[in-house]
Formats: sequence, C-alpha cells, structure tokens
Amino acid sequence: MYDLMILGGGPAGYRAAEVAAANGMKTLVIEKRALGGVCLNEGCIPSKTLLHSAKIYDYAKGGGEKYGVYAENARLDHAYVIKRKDKVVKTLVQGIAYTLKNHKADVVYAEAKITGRSAEGFTVEAEGKTYEGKKLLIATGSEALLPPINGLHDAYKAGYALTNREILSLEKVPASLCIIGGGVIGLEMASYFCSAGSKVTVVEMMNKIAGPTDSEISALLLDHYKAKGVTFHLGAKVTALTDGSVTFEKDGETVTIETEKALVSIGRRAVTKEIGLESIGVLTERGAVVTDEQMKTNVPGVFAAGDVNGKSMLAHTAYREAEVAVNVMLGKKDRMDYSAVPAVIYTNPESASVGETEETAKAKGYDVEVKKLSMNYSGRYLAENEGGKGICKVVYEKGTERLLGVAMLGNPASEIIVAATEMIAREDRMVDLQKVIFPHPTVGEVLRETAF
Ligand code: NAI
Repeated sequence: MYDLMILGGGPAGYRAAEVAAANGMKTLVIEKRALGGVCLNEGCIPSKTLLHSAKIYDYAKGGGEKYGVYAENARLDHAYVIKRKDKVVKTLVQGIAYTLKNHKADVVYAEAKITGRSAEGFTVEAEGKTYEGKKLLIATGSEALLPPINGLHDAYKAGYALTNREILSLEKVPASLCIIGGGVIGLEMASYFCSAGSKVTVVEMMNKIAGPTDSEISALLLDHYKAKGVTFHLGAKVTALTDGSVTFEKDGETVTIETEKALVSIGRRAVTKEIGLESIGVLTERGAVVTDEQMKTNVPGVFAAGDVNGKSMLAHTAYREAEVAVNVMLGKKDRMDYSAVPAVIYTNPESASVGETEETAKAKGYDVEVKKLSMNYSGRYLAENEGGKGICKVVYEKGTERLLGVAMLGNPASEIIVAATEMIAREDRMVDLQKVIFPHPTVGEVLRETAF
C-alpha cells in the first residue's frame, strides 16, 4: 500500500514524488514514456539546446560582423545538433531517475489506469498489475492538439505534418517549413529552422503573433523575424493539409502554399481520456481536470497538478502546483497563486513577461499607468546587442503605484524576469523597484531605470 500514487512522471509528477518521498510518504510514480515528460523529452529542454546552436550559428554566419568578428565557412550540422540534444535530455532524465531512487520513490514504466476505490484509497492498474494507494496525484500532462482540419490526421500519420514531438527529432532540415500557429512553439521553432536554413512560413489565425504577449512586443518580434526572412500570414485560418501543401483562408480568399513539412502548433490539450477518471468520478471541464487552489479535485484524496488541469500549461507552474498538492497532503498550509507566473518565449531576442499587460490590466478595470524604456539605456545591452530594439515595459496602478506587470523584449529577458516576478508576487510599489540595487553593468538594470 502506497501513501501516494502519481500518474505521470513529468515536471508535476517527478517534483511531487521528490517532495512526498523526502517527507516520508511511500510514493509510486507510473510513467508510460520517460521521466521528465514533455518538458524534458520533447519540449522545453530539447528546444533550448537547438536554439542555442542556432544562436551561435547566427553569429558565425554574419551576425558577428557587427562586433568585428568574422568567421568563414560557418556550417550548422543539424544531425549533430540533434545528437547533442539527445545527450542533454538523456543526462537530465537519468538525473531525475537517480534523484527519485535516492529518495526511495518507486517508478514503474507502464501505462496506468485508475480502476476504482479500495478500502483505504484507490486502485491503479499498470501492465496487468494492481497498485493500491491512499492518495492519488493525476499528472498526466498534455498532448498536441490535432483538430479535425481536412487531411491533417492523414498528413500526421504520413510524417508530413509534425508536432513538437517529431520536429525536435527531424533528421534533416527541410527546405521549407510551414508552421501552423504563431504561438510559443511556432515561434521558437520558426526561430531555429529559419536560422538552420529552412524557408519558414507562419500561418496564424489571430492578427498578432505570440498570443497574449504585450501587443507592442509582439509587433517588434514580428518585425524582427520578418527581417530575418520568415513569411507571416496573420488573420489566416488553416483549413486543409495534403502531403506537400497547406491551405488557409485569409480575407475571404483561399490560399494554398507548398511546403516540404508542416508543424502543427495550435495549442495543447490535457490528457484525461482513458486514464480511468470516471471510475472514481473525477470531474473534468473542457477536457481538463477541475482543481481548486490546493490542487484538490472534487474527489477527496485525489489531486491534479501540471498541464492536466489546464490552468497554465507551463513546467514552472507544474513544479509549484506539485509542491502545493503534496504540502496539502502532508497537512501543511499552502495554496497556489497564479498571479505571478512568468511567461517566456525563447526566440532570439527573448520575450518575457509576468503579471498583467497593459491590455489585460485595462480589461480588468485597473486605472493603469505604463512606463517603458528602450533596453539601449543599459550600457551592457548596448555593448552586447548592436542594433538591438529591446524594450522594457512596467505596468502599474495609478494612485497606489502597485506593480501590475512587466514585459520585456531583449536578451536575457528570461533571466531578468525572475526579479520582476518576485516583485509582482510581493505586490511591490514603484518606489520599491526604484530602491532595488541591481549589479552594474547588467541588462537587468533597465528594469530599475524604467521605474523612474
Ligand atoms: P499557443 O496557444 O501558444 O499558440 C497556438 C496558436 O495557434 C494561437 O496563436 C492560435 O491563434 C493559433 N491557431 C489555432 N488554430 C489555428 C488554425 N486553424 N490556423 C492558424 N492558426 C491557428 O500553442 P502552442 O504554440 O502549440 O504551445 C502549446 C503550449 O505549450 C503553450 O500553451 C505553452 O504553455 C507551452 N509551451 C511553452 C513554452 C515556453 O514557455 N517557452 C514553449 C513551448 C510550449
């Protein structure tokens, strides 16, 4: 009998297992693929290894000339990039397995299904074996959405249409790549494959890229990638795919473009089917498990964390949700707060934000003030980003001067946003930000400068 059984070994599952086992709970993780889940195996980490190679290559093939550095015969060896990515992934996956072993958490590699209740808790079946546990954590994650677009399922089966899973293991760089959906995955992959030499076209249904990103930053990113050679069709809805072409509707017209491969990155959906939720009556809404701020489902003793609850679909949210769930199981006081979850798009330049944008703050009825500053106010940024157009925007409430959100474009926004996240979480005022001493010279100083 386990104290806790966890379905899924991704960021939510493995983090929960670490915390639970470290606190003396007899813990079981059941994972059908590999520990680390989508994030480690076919998402966050693999994409970052590819993007790092692309950044070095961009400098080598001409980007370095702005800094007086010339390289000849620069070449990107995609096969090697993929091999290195596999090595990084393997190291990290082994690291998780080692940590769980150290904490004495059991891991079973099989597909798990909840089968019902037992005298003291719940039963789960995996590869014909039944496991029993007092508590359950559902952490089955999410999968790429493949909507009923004409021809999409056949194109996917034929290997012409790809999701994040397949594209990160492509053996060769396609001559042309049509990316359906200009959200996070679409833009990160446009970034790599454009640098690697593909003719990249992004087809996006909305009139802007990067989803909820601040509109000004989204427009700057669009200009940057257009200048780099990516073609964008905005306000364009994909309606059909065949092996070799993508068709979309734009301004009442039907357009068909030819492409060697297509990436489908139009969102993800929680994995809640065929895991036996109905056997114990776990409630779902729009395909995701319903959870409260303590990550409890409607069934006492059953919790859900990570993408499966559809709340934020980010690995860093999953870690925290997992900790909240286990702390609550252990009787500790804890709750999940979604108001300060940073969001990053690892394009080059990076886009990062936390809290409200000007648009969302206004929509919520705040009387909003915005301060913004070019990143070129930072000496370090200027030294390292020749011709860079980075900006930093701070959104705050008029009167109280409470910080509501920070958005920035420019490297290394993904690292600087950590400081802003802490301030938003603490509900700091503008004056608090003005008093923070940032190391000099750093790009991060621009955050403080923006507040004056
Ligand atoms: P997304 O929700 O970011 O973007 C999907 C885009 O597809 C939207 O802009 C939508 O308007 C568009 N779209 C939908 N249907 C369409 C159609 N028929 N034709 C044309 N465009 C269409 O979803 P994405 O990029 O697939 O990412 C999924 C999730 O993965 C995200 O929610 C994010 O949480 C996570 N992720 C996070 C990353 C990060 O934090 N850096 C990186 C990659 C993924």
